[in-house]
Amino acid sequence: MIDKATVDLILDTADIVDVVSDFVTLRRRGVNYVGLCPFHNDRTPSFYVSKPKQICKCFACGEGGSALNFIMKHEQLNYHDALIYLANKYHIEVNERELTDEEKDAQTAREAMFMLNEWACQFFEQQLHDTTEGQEVGLSYFNERGFSTATIRKFRLGYSPEDRSALYKAAVAKGFNRQLLFDTGLCVDDNRGGGYDRYRGRVIFPIINVGGKIVAFGGRTLKNDKTIAKYVNSPESIIYSKRKEIYGLYQAKRDIAKKGKCFIVEGYADVISMHQSGFENVIASSGTALTDDHIRMIHRFTENITEMFDGDEAGIRAALKGIDKILAQGLSMKVLLLPDDDDPDSYSRKHNAAEIQQFIDDNERDFIEFKTSILLKDCARDPIRRAKAIEDVTHSIAVIPSEVTRAVYAKECSNMFGIGEDVILRDIAKARKKIKEVAGKDGTDAPTPPQPGPEDPAPQPVMHQQERDLIKYITRYGMCEFSYFVVDGDVTNEAKATVLEYIQIELDADNLKFETPSYSKIYEVALSLIDDFYRDINEYAERSNTIAQAEYAELVKGINPVGHSIDAIKQEEDRILAKVTQQSIDRINKFRMSYLEKKLLSHPDDDVRQTSSELITEPYTLSRIHTQNASITSDFEKLPTLIPQAINNWKLALVEQQIKDLQKLVAEASMSETEELLKTLQRLFAVRSQLSQHVGHRVVMPK
Ligand code: CTP
Ligand code: MN
Repeated sequence: MIDKATVDLILDTADIVDVVSDFVTLRRRGVNYVGLCPFHNDRTPSFYVSKPKQICKCFACGEGGSALNFIMKHEQLNYHDALIYLANKYHIEVNERELTDEEKDAQTAREAMFMLNEWACQFFEQQLHDTTEGQEVGLSYFNERGFSTATIRKFRLGYSPEDRSALYKAAVAKGFNRQLLFDTGLCVDDNRGGGYDRYRGRVIFPIINVGGKIVAFGGRTLKNDKTIAKYVNSPESIIYSKRKEIYGLYQAKRDIAKKGKCFIVEGYADVISMHQSGFENVIASSGTALTDDHIRMIHRFTENITEMFDGDEAGIRAALKGIDKILAQGLSMKVLLLPDDDDPDSYSRKHNAAEIQQFIDDNERDFIEFKTSILLKDCARDPIRRAKAIEDVTHSIAVIPSEVTRAVYAKECSNMFGIGEDVILRDIAKARKKIKEVAGKDGTDAPTPPQPGPEDPAPQPVMHQQERDLIKYITRYGMCEFSYFVVDGDVTNEAKATVLEYIQIELDADNLKFETPSYSKIYEVALSLIDDFYRDINEYAERSNTIAQAEYAELVKGINPVGHSIDAIKQEEDRILAKVTQQSIDRINKFRMSYLEKKLLSHPDDDVRQTSSELITEPYTLSRIHTQNASITSDFEKLPTLIPQAINNWKLALVEQQIKDLQKLVAEASMSETEELLKTLQRLFAVRSQLSQHVGHRVVMPK
């Protein structure tokens, strides 16, 4: 359990742009930030992040919410653990009471595995750095390979001792569950009640996911024995899927985003050596072909990929394979062939950073052009192989989503093959048609049309839309204050209330309730926060005042009195006073405006969080953000008309419904009943006309 004050501190400290940026490369667009949505296969940036509102939203798939929601969804964490994640990120100390045994058991398997892996990683690091065996065997191996201490620390390399169960024993002594040791693959069950270590006698390369958690390990043997596997890797588990993880992405993501490009290499050693040489935008697919999941993950950070290959036959063949996948996701693909005997690891150790950069500049080649030239060389004058080669290249071009890019390649391809551009274009069109048909069949590649929900939405109550408008105003403006007029006989008084309180008065007076359960819940939560709000706003206003006074004093000091009349100086002072006062008012209004949003978006109840996040991120709200502060103010100024109008509309809808119901009754009623019914109907008509004329005035509903 985390205490409330700490929860508030965490939520106040977490910044949405900052939090999302750990996973998605964001670009500024106006007051918002945009990037590729991490929750679906996004090819054009649809993911919006609003700093002033502290929310994010994907306009394509609808996913979004507060920083907390984002972390819960993205890292698959529950409410509590997402808070812990944010607390760690911002170095906020969380004093939790000791977990009971029951709670320990209840922790999900995933979290337990992460915890164990983190502990194991530290164990391996400690073995490497602090034990004689580790230093003599592991560390000296790394040193021989030229890895510096800083590099070893950065990639958290380690050593697993020869002792067959060193880690097993230490982990059990530490209280870790045996089964967990087997589930993560750190140890193997010896079927005699014990276990032995999977990576014993190997150096350790932890595999860290994009969020910084250790999901798996690779252990490299130090022996030159061809009969044993060079690498032993963690088995697939609920936290590790080889087809999803990219080695080095955690360490590389910032540099990838900064440089707008990444290099893909084959192995752990290649990534590490390149980083050490100053190329920190290098990642590896760890010996497997890139999957769509890998590419999607990379696409979050950049659109430009260069794959580095050994310059031998095998390297070239590898370069040609599987790259259509990358093109198909709209990424720009280049290849860099290294000199014959080198892989990125050996090459980067032989050359300094400037030489490597020069080599890249001179040898990096566009993939299609590269592929064409290789295939051309292959087929010489053989017309059949030539035709096959052309087909092969046009297929690669055909998968590219952008028409412009396709056209450019078609031209180039036509030049290289010496064949008419129109022929190439026709081939591309044919290939595209085929791809579409295939995609249509298995549905993997075709752009997904908007999906209806898992089940058809339940028929909405009649008042649903009116309720929705009202609850939307509460989530967005609940704690904003506005003035309205109360007509009491001949006397009209001005009154002030927050939007929430005003709505409460209105609903209570007519005994109205939110019918939709999640709206009703949000309403109750909002009401329960009123006391807290008044305490917080008073504190905030006081602080804001102090700031305003200090600003005023500072600015007045800056007035140059020389050559100005007393009046002119006084005027200037008044102008400054008006300015700092207005700024303070704006500040306080902003505080009011975000108060409920923040609390609702971070509420422990899933339903409250989910629904309010939908209400707050509706396109309307975000379009408002696009147009900066000015329109927030104007919306804010409209509250005195908007709110009473929304309530009136609700009542109007209720009356309409009652009228309809009555009219049905009248049609079936006997003469004697009819008279009574018509009287009621008359009253309802009167109320209806009142409601539609006097928008903004209280109208008492008939009981
Ligand atoms: N790999 C693996 N299992 C193996 C061999 C290779 O998982 N038995 C994966 C590893 O991720 C490795 C990558 O394939 O990093 C590339 O293989 P290789 O070039 O042999 O490995 P390097 O990391 O370059 O190893 P080293 O330079 O230390 O020989
Ligand atoms: Mn290697």
